Parts: sequence; structure tokens; C-alpha cells
Amino acid sequence: MKILTIVGARPQFIKAATVSRIIRANSAVHEILLHTGQHYDENMSDVFFRELNIPLPDYNLEVGSGTHAVQTGLMLKGIEEVLLQEKPDCTLVYGDTNSTLAGALAATKLHIPVAHVEAGLRSFNRAMPEEINRIVTDRISDLLFAPTQTAIDNLYRQGLADITCFTGDVMYDSVLFYRKRIEQDPIKYTTAGIPGHYLLATIHRAENTDNIQNLTNIFLAFSELDQPIVLPIHPRTRKILQTSVNLPGNVHIIDPVGYLQMMKLTMDASRVLTDSGGLQKEAYFLQKQCITLRTETEWIETLHDHWNIITGSNPELIGKAVASELPASPPQPGFGDGKSAEIILEKLLSF
Ligand code: UD1
Ligand code: UDP
Repeated sequence: MKILTIVGARPQFIKAATVSRIIRANSAVHEILLHTGQHYDENMSDVFFRELNIPLPDYNLEVGSGTHAVQTGLMLKGIEEVLLQEKPDCTLVYGDTNSTLAGALAATKLHIPVAHVEAGLRSFNRAMPEEINRIVTDRISDLLFAPTQTAIDNLYRQGLADITCFTGDVMYDSVLFYRKRIEQDPIKYTTAGIPGHYLLATIHRAENTDNIQNLTNIFLAFSELDQPIVLPIHPRTRKILQTSVNLPGNVHIIDPVGYLQMMKLTMDASRVLTDSGGLQKEAYFLQKQCITLRTETEWIETLHDHWNIITGSNPELIGKAVASELPASPPQPGFGDGKSAEIILEKLLSF
């Protein structure tokens, strides 16, 4: 069986690393890897291939940045050429980025089956580009791999039950797998140089970076916290900060880091503040309370016992959340048993 895997953005490299490792261990499957080039900085792309032993892409379209239409259009054109040349039995796409949408659309128009990992997520906020990408990708896919029961429910409600299966979350598999590697090498993966008792923050979603009032409010909230805040900065946010926002003294900006170092930063943080989808879950898996700088979450399982608190960019809510009691009960299961990638492979082979 020949599978064409399409990735392009940071969270997709992390998800594909886990699934590809399982796929490539099976001699019945031949995986071709296509990188759209949506993310291209060394620390947004190459570092993940190196550190997570992802095979080098067979194709890199190098589309780079652009408006949604330009970026997606360039991807469509490039992906179609590769699909015509490779003629895979199926295409595997991940998550909700423009690379996901372009991969699904290009393949389905050529009648090549599409399998969507992390299907069924919904914020019900159509102002998010990711929400549009998810709705369209789920609708045109042939096989939907749902990470949670909530995702299953969303897909069933949309009449997609017959192509939906529960797999669990590949990011949970990743945390279980790579956590061991971090714990085995405390010299390499360390937060020794980081100010003690820190909060870990990431911000990159359009709703915060393209709305200067939201970004200003978030940094106002940060300035009022009595802990250092470590912020590995997404290039999108860096560009805006350079021109528009005054950085409070307690915010320590660092370059984006590799996945393993990011996990170590999460493990050693007192709490996490983020608008990232992936980091909300990792915080939950690593038993760190997350304060979500958005007005909703797709990962509602993480709301259990205030493990995840939704504040948007409201400084008062952010302050209250950071001062709140930590959860009394442990996070609940609901993201599978760490074998999502195996289930995905099994379903692909029997499809
Ligand atoms: C994309 C996804 C988002 C995901 C995020 C993961 C879409 C619509 N959005 O958002 O869902 O959460 O990736 O990180 O697909 N840039 C660089 N170097 C890079 C990459 C980006 O400088 O290697 C800068 C460029 O100025 C670019 C901006 O970041 O215009 C935004 O990049 P883009 O890929 O369009 O969207 P993200 O915000 O990264
Ligand atoms: N991440 C990373 N380095 C960083 C910031 C984040 O490796 O400097 C990881 C993070 O641990 C998670 C993934 O990137 O696994 C999340 O990606 P991102 O926040 O960019 O996108 P989202 O999940 O919101 O789509």
C-alpha cells in the first residue's frame, strides 16, 4: 500500500513523526512524505525532522508564507503534481492548517482517498481559519480518525458516522513516547538556565496576533503576574511584537524550541498560558494547569476540574486563573491508550 503523507506546519511534524514511525515499521506500507513548506524556518521545521527522526521529505513544495488563498493555491498546484506522479492508494492529512485543506482537496479531486488524522474537532467559531479547514477537510475525506469522544459526537451529528473511527490522540502517543527520552537525558533536556517557578506561554493564533487589542490585553495581564513568563515566540507573533506592543519586564522571549525541549519546559513550568491547540493537550497530559488565551476550546475534555481555564485575552480572567487553586483530581482518560498510531495503521490497511 502506498500512502502519501502531507505535512507543512509545526504541529503536523510532531503528529506525523509518531504515525510515520509505526507506518514505516510495517513492510506492507510504503510512505511518501510531502512537505508543503508552509513552515520553513530552521526552528519551525528542520529541528523536528532531526530530533524526531522523521525521514526527510520526498517532496518539499517550499510554498512559504502568503495570504490564505495564495498559500493554499500554491499548495494545491504542487500537491496535485505529486499525486499525479506518485499515484498513491491514499493520502494522509493532519489537523487543521492550510496544508491539511490543500492536501485533502487536491487528492479528493483526483479520486484518491483521503484519511484525516484529528478529525471532528470543532470550536464552532467560523472566524478561525482552522475551523473552516476542519469542516471542509472532514466533509471531503474518506476516512476520519477521531481523537476524542467529543470529536466522534461532532462527526456523527454531521452524518459522517460511517467513515468515522475512534483512534485516540496521536499527540498523547507522542507525549508517552518522548517523555521517556527526556527523562533519560536530564543534561540535554534542562530548564536550568530558565528563571525558577516560571509560567510557560505561547501565542500565535490569528485571533490574538491580528487583533492588537487582544495582544495588548494579554501582555497587560502578563505584566501584572508576579512570576517570570517564558515565551518561545512564534515568528508570526515576533513580527507583530517588534512594531506594536511593549514587552513587560517579566516576559522572557526565547526562540521557538524543539519538541523535546518544549515538553521539558512544560514539565517544569508552574502553569501554561497558551492559544495553541497542541499545547493545551500536552499541559493536560503532563498534569500542568493550562490557561487558554482564547474564548473557546475544541479540547473540552481538558476542562475537567479546571485543568484548562478559558480566559480569552481578558486581563482580569487571566489574573484570576493564575491565582486560582490547582485542580484537586487528576486528569481523566479520554485520549486513547497511547496506541493511536497503531489503530490508524490498522484502519488504513483494512480500508
Ligand atoms: C499555522 C496554522 C495554525 C497552526 C500554526 C502552528 C493555518 C491557517 N494556520 O499558523 O492553525 O496553529 O500554523 O504553528 O494554516 N513564519 C515565518 N517562518 C515560518 C513560518 C511562518 O516567519 O517558518 C511567519 C510568516 O510571517 C507568516 C506567519 O508566520 O506569514 C504565519 O505563518 P502561517 O503558516 O501562515 O500561519 P501560522 O500562524 O504559522
Ligand atoms: N512547540 C514546540 N516548540 C515551540 C512551541 C511549540 O515544539 O517553541 C510544540 C508544542 O509542544 C506542540 C506543538 O508545537 O506539540 C503545537 O504547535 P503550535 O502551537 O504551533 O500549533 P497548534 O497546536 O496551535 O496548531
